[in-house]
Amino acid sequence: MCGIVGYVGAKRNIPEILLEGLKRLEYRGYDSAGLAIGLDSGMEILKSPGKVKELDRKLKAGWTQDKFKNAKVGIAHTRWATHGPPNEVNAHPHSDSKNRIALVHNGIIDNYSELKARLSSIGIKFKSETDTEVLANLISECYEGDLCSAVAAALKQVTGTYGIAVIAKDQPDKIVVARKGSPIVIGVGDDEAFVASDISPLLPYTKRVIYLDDNDITVLSRSGIDLRNMDNVPVTREIAHIDWDANAAEKDGREHFMLKEIEEQPLAISNTMRGRMDHNLVTAKLDGLNLTPRDIAGVSRIVIAACGTSLHAGMVGEYYFEDLTSTPVEVEQAAEFRYRNPILDRDTLVIAISQSGETADTLAAIREAKQKGALVASICNVVGSTIARETGRGVYLHAGPEIGVASTKAFTCQVATLLMMALKFGRAGRLSRSAGQKIISELEKLPDLVRQVLDSSDKIARIAKKYSSAKDFFYIGRGYLYPVALEGALKLKEISYIHAEGYHAAELKHGPIALLDENVPVLALANNIPGKDKVIGNIQECRARKSPVIATATFGDKDILKHADDVMEIPECSDFVTPIPTVVALQLFAYYVARERGCPIDQPRNLAKSVTVE
Ligand code: AGP
Ligand code: GLU
Repeated sequence: MCGIVGYVGAKRNIPEILLEGLKRLEYRGYDSAGLAIGLDSGMEILKSPGKVKELDRKLKAGWTQDKFKNAKVGIAHTRWATHGPPNEVNAHPHSDSKNRIALVHNGIIDNYSELKARLSSIGIKFKSETDTEVLANLISECYEGDLCSAVAAALKQVTGTYGIAVIAKDQPDKIVVARKGSPIVIGVGDDEAFVASDISPLLPYTKRVIYLDDNDITVLSRSGIDLRNMDNVPVTREIAHIDWDANAAEKDGREHFMLKEIEEQPLAISNTMRGRMDHNLVTAKLDGLNLTPRDIAGVSRIVIAACGTSLHAGMVGEYYFEDLTSTPVEVEQAAEFRYRNPILDRDTLVIAISQSGETADTLAAIREAKQKGALVASICNVVGSTIARETGRGVYLHAGPEIGVASTKAFTCQVATLLMMALKFGRAGRLSRSAGQKIISELEKLPDLVRQVLDSSDKIARIAKKYSSAKDFFYIGRGYLYPVALEGALKLKEISYIHAEGYHAAELKHGPIALLDENVPVLALANNIPGKDKVIGNIQECRARKSPVIATATFGDKDILKHADDVMEIPECSDFVTPIPTVVALQLFAYYVARERGCPIDQPRNLAKSVTVE
């Protein structure tokens, strides 16, 4: 998804800080890029379709560096096209027809057509097909010297979502920034200020950040940050201190971020659990939930709302809550939940799961739940993200930045967090100390269980290579491994572009088995958990249709070799925690298939790391 970077101050090489910032945002997915730099002599705008390196090449080819030695302000953007193809003219920044201002924008201006019609009727000429250029001209129309007031006046005419940064030709020492529905974070410096759409571009320069809320607008200058709301009333926002260091978002020598994030899961899971096991009360310490055992005992129903991989984690969580508590749980695709008329009440707890904490549909689901009086909580990885802030209670994963578009460590840390939450809820109910102790000891084995799977990477890579030319793939599982089958299929789809479908193993007979033949491999999750014998039966049904079968199986299972062409071994563990080591094998399988196919693993086509538009 789109990215914004901006800087105001006199301490940095402005083209350099803008390009470096865009490079740190590349993981979010985009299709074109551009930057604008304010000079005393005017404003320079440079744009390019394709990757940031194209913009960098154009910059070095066309602009002498000393041209910018006195520059004090600049903004830059990576675009994920919504209105108009990903070409140079539609790339951001967009200026107005009089070249008085330059604007970068994340989001969608819903009423851009009627605004464009009105502006065109008074003679404004447009160069691009974007909604953003309309906003640039609207700001210019309102601009009479006070840039912040002009931006506020223009935004009041707009419906839709935006995260924007605006500079003016005649004020090359300030940036006006505003946000509604698309995240914006300010970096706080000394005699300098930064703006970005997430924290990664800020980390090399400052760890002090301010997350804007919807309807915030602010003027960044060397003398500080003037934060207001759209009615020009000063607002105060907490300065968050980020504990991620800049190189945490680096690859540490791996070929891809995704491989680094797969391999760092033992550490990430350890960090998720760190300080959260209470061996005395045999429960989980999740203080961020801000729910006493009495509050928890009053929860009559849980709804989990999420998208994509986070939805699959939520599906595992459903099993946990139903096994460890007497609280009914439903898992909802967040976009569906927000547009239905869900039946919620004050005793319903809605848990949003979101790695980025910015997914538009999940955020909207939380807002709908609050509107209906439900209790809300979140499981997020990004500290201070919108969903975390708007729920006001929840659990941070502490998994470190997840840069690869395909989510890996977030999933395993979400599942571990959900098991801790179910333990906490269970111990506020009928779960005994001894049963709780078993859960704690299983959780504490997780880092080692994952390490054992990582140790079999070479074997998984060999299996992946064997099947890398497949056109279609089925993933099947039961019980705790049914959501893992869905997640494994999503991983393969996302990064290798192979058509892969996850099914409950019993579902095959109800239609999908018609697709099976010798060209459609099946990845069957046949670990030693309840239902394994049924999975073996399903495997036999697949083999009867000549499908090759890859199975995950528990270490030491010799019987599986009679049923599967290839086996990925998973260490012995309880069914509660089986999803975590098993999904690591599927992550590695997908990674090595995609690598064999030469796919751009960290930035798959069409995908974005955080889907902040509907
Ligand atoms: C997962 O590999 C995908 N990148 C995608 O499905 C992702 O899980 C989904 O967009 C939800 O993102 P979130 O966890 O940041 O809300
Ligand atoms: N809607 C704008 C456009 O299509 C911004 C898209 C984005 O968020 O990158 O250019």
